[in-house]
Amino acid sequence: MIPLVDLRRQYQSIKDEVHTAVNEAIESMAFINGPQIKQFERDFARISGAKFGVGASSGTTALQLALTGLGIGHGDEVITVPNTFIATTEAITHSGARVVFVDIDEQTYNIDASKIEAAITDKTRAIIAVHLYGQPCDIEGVLAVARKHDLKVIFDAAQAHLAEYDGNPIGGYGDAVCYSFYPGKNLGAYGDGGIVLTNDEDLAKRMEMLADHGREEKYAHLMEGFNYRLSEIQAAILNVKLKYLPEWTKSRQMLAREYGRLLQSMDVVLPYVDEKMSHVFHLFVVRLQHRDEIKSYLNDKGIGAGIHYPITLHTQKAYSYMNHAPDDFPVAERCSKEILSLPMFPELTIEDLQLIVRELASAQDKSRTQYV
Ligand SMILES: Cc1ncc(COP(=O)(O)O)c(C=O)c1O
Repeated sequence: MIPLVDLRRQYQSIKDEVHTAVNEAIESMAFINGPQIKQFERDFARISGAKFGVGASSGTTALQLALTGLGIGHGDEVITVPNTFIATTEAITHSGARVVFVDIDEQTYNIDASKIEAAITDKTRAIIAVHLYGQPCDIEGVLAVARKHDLKVIFDAAQAHLAEYDGNPIGGYGDAVCYSFYPGKNLGAYGDGGIVLTNDEDLAKRMEMLADHGREEKYAHLMEGFNYRLSEIQAAILNVKLKYLPEWTKSRQMLAREYGRLLQSMDVVLPYVDEKMSHVFHLFVVRLQHRDEIKSYLNDKGIGAGIHYPITLHTQKAYSYMNHAPDDFPVAERCSKEILSLPMFPELTIEDLQLIVRELASAQDKSRTQYV
């Protein structure tokens, strides 16, 4: 059995430290807006290249804090991609704005910056560009369009902790950068959590207030906000795990290289890594023929292959009101039928990889004879 992600292997290696940190957080009784959160906000912002960090209850609420904090709401349009987790578009809709999709680049699976301009109207206020699977998108391309049209830029880095662009950590680009600490993420809490980073002090203050009922101090509310606070206990766990994140990230990158070596002579499209990017491989995604049959074969053999994501957002029932045809975003649509995520987590062994690749080769042999 090799799952897509095995949280237990990592937990075993840090169990004592986590238990101590959780116990201390409980003993402190500082459950809300406590010191663990402040420390984590500071340290995560620093390691990610941003000046300020505002903890959030999830990656989804981090996105909503960024949108609302930037003043985006009713009557506005926000551009994003159709091949992301629905949280990206939920945040747009719940802020009051309207989702507008733009197709992706076939090699990186990230937003195709050259297609953004055609989607801009006089209502467009912002772009949410996703760093999917752990590879930064064409950040400069996105920022250039945004500058030209005076748009805000939010990066959804839910899958891209510690990724780099042009040698710099990605957390300092654009107006705000949002991360998720969902348990299976590269930096995962033991429950939900998120953060939004920014270099804009006023925006950071506004988002901090919004996350905490719009209050400046207890019972003094400058505006209506939300309860989107990060939990102190989760922050205590994240502080323990953050120390190991650079090492875990290197391990993912080493495993990705090894996958590449083992798969190079096979009939699969490997992840393309742009030379400007440091990809942190939240997911290791290949493209191949007979994807569904191969996924079933691997799953039957106890290998947790997955699909991220099997249904493009513009063809989801939830967005049927937009009346999109599948072909409106043909690249995203085509990729959704051929992508396959192979197991990826820092504690995977080379033997695990060899077994996965062997089974993948058997699956392809079988599919060649059965589905031609
Ligand atoms: C690209 C992307 N955006 C947003 C989110 C939302 O994060 P969360 O689950 O912490 O709300 C996720 C993950 O779940 C994600 O993968």
